[in-house]
Amino acid sequence: MAILKIARMGHPVLARPAAPVADPTAAEIRVLVHDMIETLEDIGGRGLAAPQVHVPLCVVIFLAPGEDGRPSLTTLVNPTIEPIDAAMEDGWEGCLSVPGLRGLVTRHARIRYRGTTPTGEAIDRVADGFHARVVQHECDHLDGILYPRRMTDLGKLIFESEARWYAPTRADDVEEEGAA
Ligand code: NI
Repeated sequence: MAILKIARMGHPVLARPAAPVADPTAAEIRVLVHDMIETLEDIGGRGLAAPQVHVPLCVVIFLAPGEDGRPSLTTLVNPTIEPIDAAMEDGWEGCLSVPGLRGLVTRHARIRYRGTTPTGEAIDRVADGFHARVVQHECDHLDGILYPRRMTDLGKLIFESEARWYAPTRADDVEEEGAA
């Protein structure tokens, strides 16, 4: 177990596509996921993609409300996403690789996502709201895309310390703790 170093915007590992994992149940993937979870818990974040810890593989973890409404951790290896309809939604996001900033990002409002867990279980879910947003944000990391590239109005790229002027809600936060 280890707390991993987070790559910041500008590091090449964040700008290139990650490689699919040949065997999601491989021991090294289990170790990677354990370390990613420990790292996320240490920072108090909401999601993390393997390239953010300098590992260019298709692995993401995220916290989203489970069936009981409480945050539950999901690990996805080789995830895929498809939008359910054309509806789009704006929401404020932060990113552990873009510390101190937040941006207003337009995402698909409803998605279906699939992937495999490190125990080999297939995941196939429909998500909306924050859940849909965090999955899209994390999966973007696997395509080498950071959220500022998804923004259409860079006037809405702001410092966390100024977020109160835009009243972003906690429910819309992605990844970063502490900025409300
Ligand atoms: Ni991020």
